[in-house]
Amino acid sequence: MKKQTQTDRLNNNSAYQSMALYGQQLKTRFYINPDNFLDWVYANHKWVQYNPRKQINRYGLSITSLNGGVDGIPDLDSLREYNQENETNYNEKDFKTRTPVAEYPELKNILDEFGDSVFRSHLLRLDPGGFFPPHRDHKEPFIDSFRLIVPLQYTNAPYFNFVIDGKITNWDSGFVYFADTTKEHYLFNGGGNPSYWIILNIENNVKNKNSFLIIVFFSSTISRKLSH
Ligand SMILES: [Fe+2]
Repeated sequence: MKKQTQTDRLNNNSAYQSMALYGQQLKTRFYINPDNFLDWVYANHKWVQYNPRKQINRYGLSITSLNGGVDGIPDLDSLREYNQENETNYNEKDFKTRTPVAEYPELKNILDEFGDSVFRSHLLRLDPGGFFPPHRDHKEPFIDSFRLIVPLQYTNAPYFNFVIDGKITNWDSGFVYFADTTKEHYLFNGGGNPSYWIILNIENNVKNKNSFLIIVFFSSTISRKLSH
């Protein structure tokens, strides 16, 4: 029998399952300069209301969408409610066309690591008082995509709270993190400034193992643990 290689062993797990073994939040080596990126966003793009059905101070800007547009319809709406109303059946994987926002070079480099495995992705702005109540991103046992999240500006306690499974995050701005949002999580902006985030949805499969290897095994947090 052929000797099982390390890659073969990794292949037995999907990307999400493999990362979740290491922690519910993992810092990667991917980085976007937040100030430069947000300057570019404000000079070139317009935010739209996130989930217009709810009067909450949340705005979004699509990185991927149905057709490459940035009107947020329906990718920044509540998909469940939009589907019910329009008798459609959209889900995360239907929003794979990159918008002009995805052209920003540092962002494009990250997206290119995942090829066509990038599902519904967007920027998020929570103005003061903006929040997402406690929820889980998956309600079924099958995890078809996982979240990579970039904290850009005003994303940390005490003013902003991002709590995953009862633990508050304290992340370094501009770095890409894996977050296990299958665990219950909530966000609340209790501060006086808008809070900016990038939310990427990546297909959970075994074929994007290269991206997975880069994320987990070349990230600073894991290497630090390996070399204690
Ligand atoms: Fe969530």
